[in-house]
Amino acid sequence: MKFVTTTQRLAAVLALTGACMGSASASPDAATLERGKELFTSKAVPACAICHALADAGAAGAIGPDLDELKPNADRIKKAMKEGIGAMPSFAATMSEEDMNAVAAYVVHATGS
Ligand code: HEC
Repeated sequence: MKFVTTTQRLAAVLALTGACMGSASASPDAATLERGKELFTSKAVPACAICHALADAGAAGAIGPDLDELKPNADRIKKAMKEGIGAMPSFAATMSEEDMNAVAAYVVHATGS
């Protein structure tokens, strides 16, 4: 084979992504953290930053708890996103499982918990 087809390249990328996802909870890759931050600050609807303070994201929302102080673990973050809690809406209908994992990984990373 002289040249690599687009399909082969895509397969390689997917294989790599799969490999990274496997260890996502241990040490998330840069792309996952970047995606999580993007969702946190602006892409989630509504964005977490509107309601939560998180220094790493430059967020100063005061409707929900300050996440730098709360230092929630990934399970707690995902539960809040999936089910909603108090005044916080559920994101289950608007965010994929992968995106929720990315946000959780990012918040855990940003708060050093
Ligand atoms: C409309 C405002 C609002 C938005 C948007 C919002 N939250 Fe919240 N969040 C809250 C409030 C209010 C609480 C506290 C609820 C309570 O304890 O009654 C909370 C609680 C939490 C908690 C703590 C849950 C617990 O177990 O105590 C986490 C973690 C959290 N939010 C993460 C997020 C993330 C991540 C996003 C974005 C995907 C987000 N929130 C978006 C308002 C919001």
